[in-house]
Parts: sequence; structure tokens; C-alpha cells
Amino acid sequence: MHYFEDDDLSGTAVIGYIPSKTEAIKILQEMNLSKNIVNHVLAVSRKAIKFATKISAAPVNFKLVRIGAILHDIGRVRSHDYDHAVIGGQIIREELKFSEQLARIAETHILGGISKEEAKEFGLPPKDYFPESVEEKIVCLADKYFIGVQQVSIEQRFKNWFARYGENEFLLRSKKRVEDLEIFIYKLMFP
Ligand SMILES: [Fe+2]
Repeated sequence: MHYFEDDDLSGTAVIGYIPSKTEAIKILQEMNLSKNIVNHVLAVSRKAIKFATKISAAPVNFKLVRIGAILHDIGRVRSHDYDHAVIGGQIIREELKFSEQLARIAETHILGGISKEEAKEFGLPPKDYFPESVEEKIVCLADKYFIGVQQVSIEQRFKNWFARYGENEFLLRSKKRVEDLEIFIYKLMFP
């Protein structure tokens, strides 16, 4: 099944280095990312690839989706706050020196993305962190279908966040963004 080959370069052209799945998982283990999170990223990766295989209306790079999903939570080795996305991007870009496209996938996966203004509020380097490429959008959305390894609906995912942080304006705005993202991806799957 050629879709699952690691050297499949269909869709967005890859710039820079993309590790293999084995290499990516080994890095997570060496950085002592918890087993729960490793299992979570693998579940997200499977879901993301499922979306990718169903998308017919746009070219998708499977390698970026798969490895991007596996590395999306790498920042959790240092933080479990919103900043884990930015930290993940930095680790991928500056320490591992992997493709900028992988760094972007990690950076833009939080909720439905974060605006420059929101980033400022959270003390993050002020810039927009919205998923833009189809690969960024797929990983961001696939992540929202999981609480750990348990697959949930977007509704349930946000219910859980509301219970933890309150049904605040920021989370309500985020929910709308994720719902829009879901519509965007579903339109690509069923044009
Ligand atoms: Fe995640």
C-alpha cells in the first residue's frame, strides 16, 4: 500500500529532514516522554493518517502528517501548559534540526490554534499559531479527538476542558475554531 511508505512525497513538498517513524519514537523515548503520551501521539498519528487517506480534494503529504503527529507533543518533556506547543517547535527546529514543517505542526496544534493576541496573554512569543497547511490542520484536528488514548468527540473533548478551566471565552472561541477545522477537513474528504 504505497500510501504508507515513508518516502511518499505526494502533497506538500518536504523541506529539511524528516525522521523515520522508528527514529521519531526513539527520540521521544530517549527524552523520557511518558509512555501515556507516546501512546497518545501514536493514536493521534493513526487518526491523522486515516483523515489523510480519505482526503481526495487536496494533495496531502503522508510523511509530514505521520511524523508531525508523532512529534506534536514533544514539548511535553518540558511543560504541560499551552507553551508545550511552542517549546515543541523549538526542540524540533533548534535542537533536533528537523524540518521547519514539523516544527510548525507542533507549534500550531494547541486547541484550534492561538492568535497573536492570545499568545501575548499567555506569555508566548507574540505571533499567530494557527494551523495553515493541510498537514498542520489534519494533526491539529486529529489531536482534538483524543483524551490520552481514549477517542472522543469534539464536544466531549471540550466538555473536559470546560470542566477543568471553566467555559471561558477563550475556550469557547477555540471550540468554534476546531468545529470550523472539522468542517474544512470533512469538505476535503467528502467534496
Ligand atoms: Fe496531543
